[in-house]
Amino acid sequence: MDDSLEKVAAEVKVCTKCALSRSRTNAVPGEGPANARIMFIGEGPGFHEDHQGRPFVGASGQYLEQLLSTINLRREQVYIANVVKCRPPGNRDPLPDEIVACREYLDRQLALIKPSVVVTLGRFSMERFFPGQSISRIHGKAKRVGDIFYLPLYHPAAALRRPDWRQEMEQDFRHIPELLAELDKSKISHERDAGDDDQFHQLSLF
Ligand code: URA
Ligand code: SF4
Repeated sequence: MDDSLEKVAAEVKVCTKCALSRSRTNAVPGEGPANARIMFIGEGPGFHEDHQGRPFVGASGQYLEQLLSTINLRREQVYIANVVKCRPPGNRDPLPDEIVACREYLDRQLALIKPSVVVTLGRFSMERFFPGQSISRIHGKAKRVGDIFYLPLYHPAAALRRPDWRQEMEQDFRHIPELLAELDKSKISHERDAGDDDQFHQLSLF
C-alpha cells in the first residue's frame, strides 16, 4: 500500500467525509515539493483558495510569500497545507468534527513529506501540536520532538490586521532558518560521531 501526495490529493478532491464538501467549489489538498524541509499548516481555504483549488492564494498568501522572501525562500520551495481542505462557509472557524474528519489527510501528508520544520499558522493548526496552549503566549517558540521542530506562528490574516502582530510575525519568521541550521548542526555532529565509530571499528580489526 504505497501512499503518495497525489493519492491524498485525489481522495481530497472527491471527499465527502464532512459537511464542508457540500458548500465547497474546489477542495484544496495543499501543494509543494514532496521533499520539502518546511511545511506550513494553515486553517482552511478562503474564498480565493476555494475558487482556485490552491492554498494561500489570496491576501494571506501574498503576505506569506512576502514573509518567505525575507528568509530568501519562494513558495515553490515549501509545502503548504491546511487543517481542513474545504472552505468553511463565510470563512467561519472549522468545527471540531470537521477537523477530526479531515485529520487523516494532514497526517498522511506529514508522514509522506517528513518535514524538518512544521510551521503552524493560527490557532487551529497550533492546537494539533500544542494542545490547550495560547497563541499569544507561545508564538515564535519552537518545540523539538526527535528531529522535527514545531514552530507556532500567528495566522497571516490575523497579523495583517494588527500592526503590532505583524512586527512579531516578521521576527518569528526568522526562527525558521535558525531551526534548520540547528538541525543541520546536530546532524553533522551525529555523523561525525558515527564516523569516529567506524574508524574505531576499523582500527580494532588490526
Ligand atoms: N488561510 C488559510 O488558513 N489557508 C489558506 O489556504 C488561505 C488562507
Ligand atoms: Fe473531506 Fe476534509 Fe473536505 Fe471535510 S474538509 S469534505 S473531511 S476533505
